[in-house]
Amino acid sequence: MPAKVVVVGSLNMDLVTRASRLPRAGETLVGQSFSTVPGGKGANQAVASARLGAGVAMIGCVGTDAYGGQLREALRVEGIDCQAVSTVEGSSGVALIVVDDSSQNAIVIVAGSNGELTPASLKACDAVLQAAEVIICQLEVPMDTVGYTLKRGRELGKTVILNPAPASGPLPAQWYGSIDYLIPNESEATALSGVTVDSLDSAKVAATVLINAGAAKVIITLGAQGALFADGHSFEHLAAPKVKAVDTTAAGDTFVGGFAAALAAGKSETEAIRFGQVAAALSVTRAGAQPSIPTLQDVQGFVPS
Ligand code: RIB
Repeated sequence: MPAKVVVVGSLNMDLVTRASRLPRAGETLVGQSFSTVPGGKGANQAVASARLGAGVAMIGCVGTDAYGGQLREALRVEGIDCQAVSTVEGSSGVALIVVDDSSQNAIVIVAGSNGELTPASLKACDAVLQAAEVIICQLEVPMDTVGYTLKRGRELGKTVILNPAPASGPLPAQWYGSIDYLIPNESEATALSGVTVDSLDSAKVAATVLINAGAAKVIITLGAQGALFADGHSFEHLAAPKVKAVDTTAAGDTFVGGFAAALAAGKSETEAIRFGQVAAALSVTRAGAQPSIPTLQDVQGFVPS
């Protein structure tokens, strides 16, 4: 299947511990389990788009360690075009994740080879970007690479999605004009806009700030409270399907990948958001990053409770 969705971003091996609760500073806890699970926001979004029906290509970097081959293989078995996933000397990206009994998590990432994805490496695979309909970026690769990709995506007339995760502060002002869909969660919207997002009303204020900064459209994901869609003219609040959460890791990635796959399939924005929400809701009912991401059949068979 030709790649309509191209993801430029990170691949991480997730080192996941489950514990009854998250540790406090200086505290040692006894965990319940440990597993290594393919993850990384970029790779998770690529897997989500692929399982949810899109032809997908990934642009990223893995290391020469054992994780590198495993991360590449995890994408290959999903039918994702990995020709633009390069292998660089050194360690692959990793994420240290603790998940507690209430399904909350705490994550520390170490970029490793994700830090080697440069604008020059993007230029070398321009044909992959040219073939895309939708381009997705996140913030787990160098900022100048993200900036280059957004600008190039805009020049090529592609639909450009930025999931600004993880976010630690405002985005470069010049990025906004290249973004068709900016998709932050509450904390990311807070970091980007300076508005504390803790309610639907505050999400509307933050979305307005981000639209005024130049983003064409904004979708703020609000966890169990659903999502707010803003297009500069009006707001739409879309409630989230109710599910019992086991692990929220990669829920946001599943939403972004599902939204992109649905847009690439010709669905309307509202349909694509609802599709992404069902996919994300299903993902939180399962453990791990990529293993938790549902298929198109799972989403089509979902019956709201
Ligand atoms: O969004 C979830 C992802 O964040 C994990 O898979 C982990 O790798 C971190 O990048």
